[in-house]
Amino acid sequence: MTLSLEALADAYAFESSPRRADLGVLHVPFDELIGSNRTEARLDASVRRHEPIALIGASGCGKSSVIAHVLGPTTEGVVPVYVPLVAAPSQTVDTPEHLADHLLATLVRLAGSTGEQVERDLADTTTVTTRVRRGRAGYAGRWIGADVAAEVLHQAQTERNATLADKTDALAQILGTVADGHLVPVIVFDDTDRWLSYESVELVARFFAEGVRWLLELPAALVVAVHPRYFETTSPAELLGYLDTRIDIPSLESASAVDAILRRRIETIVGTSDTSLTEVLASGASAAVLAVYRESGSLRRALQVCHTALHDALSDGAQMISARHVVAAASAG
Ligand SMILES: Nc1ncnc2c1ncn2[C@@H]1O[C@H](COP(=O)(O)OP(=O)(O)OP(=O)(O)O)[C@@H](O)[C@H]1O
Ligand SMILES: [Mg+2]
Repeated sequence: MTLSLEALADAYAFESSPRRADLGVLHVPFDELIGSNRTEARLDASVRRHEPIALIGASGCGKSSVIAHVLGPTTEGVVPVYVPLVAAPSQTVDTPEHLADHLLATLVRLAGSTGEQVERDLADTTTVTTRVRRGRAGYAGRWIGADVAAEVLHQAQTERNATLADKTDALAQILGTVADGHLVPVIVFDDTDRWLSYESVELVARFFAEGVRWLLELPAALVVAVHPRYFETTSPAELLGYLDTRIDIPSLESASAVDAILRRRIETIVGTSDTSLTEVLASGASAAVLAVYRESGSLRRALQVCHTALHDALSDGAQMISARHVVAAASAG
């Protein structure tokens, strides 16, 4: 089957902000791309040792993608607990007490909804679900029981003036239920960029000091996405004092890495199994995409440019995306 630019455009092949359920499937491990074992392999091993981990990288470089891949539904033995910050007010994390409340509420909501959500994702055929489907049994089956979580929350809330110690015990009990099944619960703070817009230096510093110190009391691994912009006000040594394991998202250096990422998207999203990227990308185009990535440090930006270049090529009546399309799309902002 020949691949057309129309097919790519129709399938949103270069969508730069996929849903989390799809991120992991579209992920090409940095370890493969650069021939190391310092990113995904290290994160996986560290999580299984229950380490507190800082995953460090600028906006759009691939932190969420790495997390989604390593803690994705096909990974055996881990139970990720994504603690959402985007919709939460800043007070949610300003003290260990508030953090404990938020984490408890998150756990209970997840326990009740995970099975349902997974089923919904599976039913949604407009998105990439092949691998999610394959991981189905493991994913739905390994979540903590909603009844256990609800019971524990109930206990924590009905105790008048529940202390931080009570809440910590309740959380440890829930997470312990997961761990007893020989699974590793992993508390994930992925959308910490929420705080960048607040310019809230103090809040960030408090979270990384008191908040993280308290989180270490829980029987779980911890993964925190960290933006290097935080280091503008506090040194890494100071800010990450409690996050002993530090993993930096590496930079990609070659056009073949860009090719591998685009090829994965075409294969997965368009669904062609023996796609040749050279049918749609003219020679020199990936080098131009790599240049965009290098300048911005962002794969999201590189994909946005690919998306615009694809549409420009289509309106040109071209058969392929050329380097010229990429350069024009990049300079269009
Ligand atoms: N190794 C990779 N393989 C394939 N796609 C990737 C890879 N890394 C990043 N991407 C893609 O790049 C885009 C940005 O990645 P991601 O959302 O993970 O960045 P981020 O570091 O979490 O950004 P932010 O700080 O804004 O949250 C996404 O479209 C993602 O699919
Ligand atoms: Mg992210």
